[in-house]
Amino acid sequence: MCQLALGTSVKSPDGNIEVKFSVDGTGRPLYEMSYKGRPVINPSHLGLELAKDKHASQGLKETDLMDGFKILKEETSTFDETWQPVWGETRDIRNHYVEYSAVLQQPSTQREIIIRFRVYDDGIGFRYEFPQQQRLNYFLIKEERTEFAMTGDHKAFWLPGDYDTQEQMTQETRLSEIRGRFNDAVNWGNSSVATFSPTGVQTSLQMKSDDGLYINIHEAACLDYATMHLELVDAQTKALTTQLSGSSNVYTPAPAPSAWPLPKPFTFVSHLTPDATGLKGAMQTPCSTPWRTVMVSDDARQMLASNLILNLNEPCKIEDTSWIHPTKYCGVWWEMIVGKSSWNYTDEYPSIKLDQIDWTKAKANGRHAANNDKVKRYIDFAAKNGLQQVLVEGWNVGWEDWANMWKRDVFDFTTPYPDFDLKMLNDYAHAKGVKLLMHHETSSSTQNYERHIKEAYDLMNRYGYDAVKTGYVGDMIPRGDHHYSQSMNNHYLYVIKEAAKHHIMVNSHEATRPTGLCRTWPNLVGGESARGTEYEAFGGNNPDHTCILPFTRLQGGPMDYTPGIFETKLSTWSNNTSWARITIAGSLALYLTMYSPLQMAADLPEHYEKYDDAFQFIRDVACDWDDSRYLEAEPGDYITVARKAKNTDNWFVGGKCDENGHTAVVKLDFLDKGRKYLCTIYADAKDAHYETNPKAYTITKKVVKAGQTLKLNEAPGGGFAISLIAQ
Ligand code: NOJ
Ligand code: CA
Repeated sequence: MCQLALGTSVKSPDGNIEVKFSVDGTGRPLYEMSYKGRPVINPSHLGLELAKDKHASQGLKETDLMDGFKILKEETSTFDETWQPVWGETRDIRNHYVEYSAVLQQPSTQREIIIRFRVYDDGIGFRYEFPQQQRLNYFLIKEERTEFAMTGDHKAFWLPGDYDTQEQMTQETRLSEIRGRFNDAVNWGNSSVATFSPTGVQTSLQMKSDDGLYINIHEAACLDYATMHLELVDAQTKALTTQLSGSSNVYTPAPAPSAWPLPKPFTFVSHLTPDATGLKGAMQTPCSTPWRTVMVSDDARQMLASNLILNLNEPCKIEDTSWIHPTKYCGVWWEMIVGKSSWNYTDEYPSIKLDQIDWTKAKANGRHAANNDKVKRYIDFAAKNGLQQVLVEGWNVGWEDWANMWKRDVFDFTTPYPDFDLKMLNDYAHAKGVKLLMHHETSSSTQNYERHIKEAYDLMNRYGYDAVKTGYVGDMIPRGDHHYSQSMNNHYLYVIKEAAKHHIMVNSHEATRPTGLCRTWPNLVGGESARGTEYEAFGGNNPDHTCILPFTRLQGGPMDYTPGIFETKLSTWSNNTSWARITIAGSLALYLTMYSPLQMAADLPEHYEKYDDAFQFIRDVACDWDDSRYLEAEPGDYITVARKAKNTDNWFVGGKCDENGHTAVVKLDFLDKGRKYLCTIYADAKDAHYETNPKAYTITKKVVKAGQTLKLNEAPGGGFAISLIAQ
């Protein structure tokens, strides 16, 4: 560490990344960041605006934690440790950084805060810490004002900022084009939408500068805090958005728009998700914000190989993790998504009151998928093909009026429909070495879920379920709250902890985007929090979608993308012309390129039976790894990765590309020297195309050795998958 005119400088272990920190003339904290001598973040302010509680004496103005600071104390240290995740892309993860912290004192309030930086070889994390002290015990956040000043009009891969959904198509534009594109980018048809600014975007935000730097902004360890969005200041910005639209008696005085000067164009400013009152955070010291992260590299592959987000999370808090396991599953699911069958049992009632219906008397609609015969067929299919679990949706009463009715008592999570024999089906599955995977759609009625959760998880324990898929479709109930607020983030964590007590793994749909909490709570094995395969049936995902998600959504943790659609022409209830924009070989590639310890074979058993030779790859592919090597990558264009299956000498390679096709060059230099491998290549046929000829694939077998090179032709919207079995 050395004291420079511009402040204190801290460098990453390899010296490539440099952070400088200081306070300016008015006492506002300021930082900047560079990579190999090139600026990544121009000087940017840090701080928080506070709100005043209505109980505080009238007229007493709260002082923001924005300016008037002086540096009291600075410290640096180095940390280097290697840890083993319970499941993951690699067996070992190195956590190596230089840490710098500054204790800042605000003499006018006699308050102290700490700003802590961790500088890694592949990026930085920094956060605000609030030690317990006389003058800062409980406080309310009006807005966090963390700035990220970009150095130019970068290309960005962005989703419109939204308090309730991430189920949009990623936009690829220059920063200056966000405002113009914003309205078209919003998925207005989603069941819960709340945008806040025409230049508001979500994290993880992937960018590329004109001089070839890959820059990613996200957050790590979002705990007891609201999810962060970014609001871009562009040439047209007059003021930053304040979103304190809630009940006016919460604050005294009523919050005014920020009085702080607007930063320069191309600066992102943090924008937290409010709760029902418009508040961004209710804090009790000692506490801290999540880590704000900036990853950078001149090599796109490094963005995918980075473990920065996981490293910034706390180590595992579950002592005995032996019950947590990677899982391949199929499910009574896709046939409802494409409209062939229904979640609900009856069409008879205009509305459902759970405690007033005798389900044995209800008239079956004949389309209910979660029935004994069908579930048994799925169990047979799973057992035959080495899939460990079968998800069954629509097993429990309440689906007749489940969505968007703002109905508190929507499900009880314990009562099966009369044609679903809970005991018999679990016994049947267990006898075949298969487990059922529980489904709890909450319809965003979170108090209802919390009220029933213990009974629901006890029931799971009783029948031998060890994983649950949760769901949060629709606006929050109680009304006014948002999917990504502090209170909702606390709900998701409560569910994870309660599940851990019951030895249950969690896969959360429509919950907040992940920030690496799966390191601390490895029973969080998956999540959605983006536009998944279901959207292939709701109008489609662009072919480049899965070449972007690993750079963005997957930075915080694995996604339950539910790949594996072989029959790409779909007849759907929403849109008869829906079709999956991917080739069969491309679908196989997703089991490698979209890392997750939980992988679904999402299509119908009869479709897999039709293409059984291609399905062999899904039977064979692992979902837990000792090693992963990103061989080729460019956001939005292509990703090629090789992974070594856990506790074996076998490798699997996958490549996925966008609508333009790609020729992948795979050097087999990761294989053991002198050893032979049986190589099976599942590739797009010469004339394959995601639109016109998605099912044209070839399967080639040969023996290969380290040092050889494979050239793979990926069709538009296609890809390839390879298994390399050590001989
Ligand atoms: C949305 C989820 O993403 C989907 O997988 C599920 O089937 C429905 N909600 C119903 O819970
Ligand atoms: Ca969803």
